[in-house]
Amino acid sequence: MPATDRRTILVTSALPYANGAPHLGHMVEAVQTDIWVRYQRLRGHQCLYICASDAHGTPIMLKARQEGVAPEQLIERVGAEQRRDFAGFDISFDNFHTTHSAENREVTEEVYARLVAGGHIRRETIRQSYDEQAGMFLPDRYVRGGCPRCGAADQYGDSCENCGATYSPADLVNPVSVLSGTPPVLRDSEHLFFRLADFEAMLREWTGSGRLQAAVAAKLDEWFDAGLRDWDISRDAPYFGFEIPGEPGKYFYVWLDAPIGYLGSFLQWCRRTGTDFARYWAPGSDAEVYHFIGKDIVYFHTLFWPAVLHGAGYRTPTSVYAHGFLTVNGQKMSKSRGTFIMASTWLEHLPAEYLRYYYASRLGPGVEDLDLNLDEFVSKVNADLVGKLVNIASRCAGFIARGSAGRLADQLPDPTLQAEFVGAADRIGAAYEARDFALAVREIMLLADRANHYIDQQKPWLMAKDPARAPAVQGVCTQGLELFRLLVLYLKPVLPRLAGAAERFLGIGDQHWTDATRSLAGRTIGTYEPLATRVDPAAVQALLAAAAGSLQPMGVPTAATAATAAAKPADAPAISIDDFTRVDLRIARIVSAEAVEGADKLLRLVVDLGDGRRTVYAGIRQAYAPDTLVGRLTVVVANLEPRKMRFGTSEGMVLAAGPGGSDIFLLSPDSGATPGMRVK
Ligand code: 2FM
Ligand code: ZN
Repeated sequence: MPATDRRTILVTSALPYANGAPHLGHMVEAVQTDIWVRYQRLRGHQCLYICASDAHGTPIMLKARQEGVAPEQLIERVGAEQRRDFAGFDISFDNFHTTHSAENREVTEEVYARLVAGGHIRRETIRQSYDEQAGMFLPDRYVRGGCPRCGAADQYGDSCENCGATYSPADLVNPVSVLSGTPPVLRDSEHLFFRLADFEAMLREWTGSGRLQAAVAAKLDEWFDAGLRDWDISRDAPYFGFEIPGEPGKYFYVWLDAPIGYLGSFLQWCRRTGTDFARYWAPGSDAEVYHFIGKDIVYFHTLFWPAVLHGAGYRTPTSVYAHGFLTVNGQKMSKSRGTFIMASTWLEHLPAEYLRYYYASRLGPGVEDLDLNLDEFVSKVNADLVGKLVNIASRCAGFIARGSAGRLADQLPDPTLQAEFVGAADRIGAAYEARDFALAVREIMLLADRANHYIDQQKPWLMAKDPARAPAVQGVCTQGLELFRLLVLYLKPVLPRLAGAAERFLGIGDQHWTDATRSLAGRTIGTYEPLATRVDPAAVQALLAAAAGSLQPMGVPTAATAATAAAKPADAPAISIDDFTRVDLRIARIVSAEAVEGADKLLRLVVDLGDGRRTVYAGIRQAYAPDTLVGRLTVVVANLEPRKMRFGTSEGMVLAAGPGGSDIFLLSPDSGATPGMRVK
């Protein structure tokens, strides 16, 4: 392509919190962004994909405390899990850093200094809930109590799940701190505020220029109508984050340095590769900058973020693309339904590319939610990838191997059909560009139908019975493989692995979009090995069983985790009292505990039930270091049928309370219980 057509593009996806490994909800965004990025690269544009772990904030600080580790250790461990799982899904980051980095501190301090110099920061003393026992101010979500409007008990400090009212924690009836269970007191503290209203004109222009999705623009209109409120960017110690220069004991709020983390991660990449940072971020830069995000964090990305960038003398994003939330089988991911699926659990049971394909087939340019219907997943992958796409190659390869020693024909029997496939490139490309991957996939599958139809009509298996027709067989199968090559090229942003394997089989190098017009004529192909195999529904059942058996890392819900948060236990089906009395619950003392190699959530426990010992596998590794468990008491389901697991047989089930991850609670050793005691 002419140098002038080559776009310079920087793309980010939202920085995942460093409090847990990615789940399938995170993968929607990563896959969506990755497909778009890979498409741009395939077109020959320079397209960088930058991300990082969002490492700061109260939930991460508290989670580290619970685990008895320093926050730095926690974020390092989770960061490694994030890298591992994103890599498992072939997410092609150019850089994946952390917001707790020297580069991010540097950019954050610079942004702040420029905002101060520009007069965009003001001080105000505010009154907040404070937990005297825990010695800290409480974020709204850490205070619970009765809803001041409808009276519903045990509601968050900022809003009521029952009636939808929004309020402040001080309005709650009988508020308590979720940290200590004590009633919080109100305490004053001086905070720093970013004067968002200074940027109203600039924001109206930025948002009004047609760059945003219609639904997002409509939301912004509402926010403008409601009036822009200044934004509290400071938090008091104790806090895990960057201390604000010149403000001892005060820290930047995580949501200030998180989007700046896009710049921090990019700066690290620029320094490593000798790239000019300002080329992308100076005002007036012709580089394009896109942020892919979930619809729950639009406010941060379309109001605060462009205003902060502008106030600090940087260019603003070209656009922000929001997507909807993931549901599984039509409902929010749920632990009790066994549909809260971690990315790593998926990878243990099914190929990443099958999910990439399914997501692509369901992703449009809007903010609608995406449903992973597992039955449809099985039938779609089997019908499209195996039955249509790969079938073309497997039908043709054998005839070429046997009939012409792997050599393809020099001429195509149906150049018109070939031209039709080549001509589809623009239409499919436009769909990718517009993030309408569902449309791109539909177009490609219609072509796959045409290719199969062509082979069905020509019937090379009948022709091959007549040796005189060998050249015709070679021609038809060459044509089939040419069509297959194009389909694989068009699907390459979605299925990079399958595309690579197909390119090796066809004996061609790494195909680019412009290679659509090339030809395989006269080449010799390799031996055909199945490029995709059918999904066995049993693998999906095993996935769900594994998801149900593993406790998932959760923290205090955040905007992002709420998107896919496990539903409350209330969604478990009711059981009768008879069902309940059949369960033999007993107190057990943990005699030994050890980590299970290859299962990052499992501990192998030997428990003493008073009348003997049992080996039990428990998904509590993220909550407890093994040696802290020895001697502790727990409740065990003693009459559970022994269950054969990958790592051994589990002879019972340990019961624990809490939402999962590190928030799991066993009985304490001094609770007065003794092994063998019945629990009901
Ligand atoms: O909502 C979330 O999960 C945040 N960690 C997203 C941050 S995106 C960006 F601002 F860093
Ligand atoms: Zn209410």
